[in-house]
Amino acid sequence: MENKIKKVYIETLGCQMNKSDSERILAILSHFNYEETLEPKEADLLIVNTCSIRQLSEEKAYSRLGVWGKWKTQEGKKIKIALCGCLPQHTKENLMARFPYLDLAFGTQNIYELPDLINKEERVWAIRNSYVPEKDYGYIRKKDVNAWLPITEGCNNFCSYCIVPFTRGREHSRPFDTIIKEAKEIVAEGFKEITLLGQNVDSYGKDLEGKPTLAALLREIDKIEGKFRIRFVTSYPTDITDELIETVANSKKVSRYFHIPMQSGDTRVLKAMNRRYTREEYGDIVRRIREKIPEVIITSDFIVGFPSETEEEFERTLTAIDEFGINYSNIASYSPRPHTKAAKMVDEFIPEEEKDRRFQILNDKVKETSLKNHKSCVDKVFEVLIDSKKGDECKARTTCNKIVYFKSDKEIGDFANVKITSADTWHLKAEEV
Ligand code: SAH
Ligand code: SF4
Ligand code: F3S
Repeated sequence: MENKIKKVYIETLGCQMNKSDSERILAILSHFNYEETLEPKEADLLIVNTCSIRQLSEEKAYSRLGVWGKWKTQEGKKIKIALCGCLPQHTKENLMARFPYLDLAFGTQNIYELPDLINKEERVWAIRNSYVPEKDYGYIRKKDVNAWLPITEGCNNFCSYCIVPFTRGREHSRPFDTIIKEAKEIVAEGFKEITLLGQNVDSYGKDLEGKPTLAALLREIDKIEGKFRIRFVTSYPTDITDELIETVANSKKVSRYFHIPMQSGDTRVLKAMNRRYTREEYGDIVRRIREKIPEVIITSDFIVGFPSETEEEFERTLTAIDEFGINYSNIASYSPRPHTKAAKMVDEFIPEEEKDRRFQILNDKVKETSLKNHKSCVDKVFEVLIDSKKGDECKARTTCNKIVYFKSDKEIGDFANVKITSADTWHLKAEEV
């Protein structure tokens, strides 16, 4: 047995779920003599935790492999190179042949097999398609004010553009008690914000005995002693229940914030996307939330240039933002993904230049609404949580994730009350009160 501590560098692409997986991977490896380094050149083991949501996301992983491969083959560095996450989970391509310097590839369902895989002499391609119950190796959470806490993984929705059901498998919920135990640990460790994670958090518990709900989880976490915030992402519009809205409205610690991707403002496009709601039904959900929580912030994701989307249909996305008062949106240009239905609509693909044009127009709309929304905050007082600090210049977030800069002698992880003095598209400036 070799006892020398080895160093692992992990590059995490993609969503918060991947960030959380990387923390789990680091915790498992810590039981096998590895410690994290933030300097790739120092590492004995280099891992890229990949995302497949768009073609471009996969290309980022390939380029990382290319750089590390050169270190190994041209510079003769004695390193082990691994690829994990969503890309190897779904691909049918023989990546071991394409990247001869790759030592190990493992999928999203193989994380708990890592102890067996990591010390193998031969090259390993380990992908399994069924869910393996988790083992308690703990987490090595990134030192930050926010902690990620996964509650569900996988997705059963099969939106016609989306690869996630093929990279994360069918939906399963983590046990209620495990989540509460981890939430308590997170608070005890001093984190100031807990973000509950899932591809579709509202369907939490449907596969568990007794069918506990997301609302029940929130109520239980809300009771934990201490000053901290609770957030949850991502919500599927029609799965948001009145129980959830009431719970958020009545809670002490849950942020008045819902991220509810609409994807398109047009009902025909939504149907082609296999989303289970109309434009009007989406509007009704937003209205129901606002009735109970007037100060709520609602954000969304939209895809532009879905195959067959007409100009008129695209414009309905622009009007939806105004009509439903969506405060901020992430935008993505449609990217055909393997295994998905929409990728077969080749005759109806929208040309790249047209997708770019629509992206620009929507981006301008998002900027305009963000600025308008930010301007309405001027002179108001918010409680913010400090994330980082340079000198006395603090960067903080409101409970609804607006970025605020202000000067203070408070520290990272402290809460402060600030009065907004000026507004920009992407951030606010403030003074402590
Ligand atoms: N579960 C969430 C979304 C997860 S994926 C939901 O139901 O909305 C994150 C975002 O990536 C999606 O909201 C969508 O806007 C975008 N996305 C997914 N597949 C895409 C594709 N093929 N092309 C472009 N954007 C995509
Ligand atoms: Fe993808 Fe749809 Fe599942 Fe979200 S709900 S992860 S967009 S399939
Ligand atoms: Fe990407 Fe996988 Fe997340 S495809 S967005 S890393 S679930």
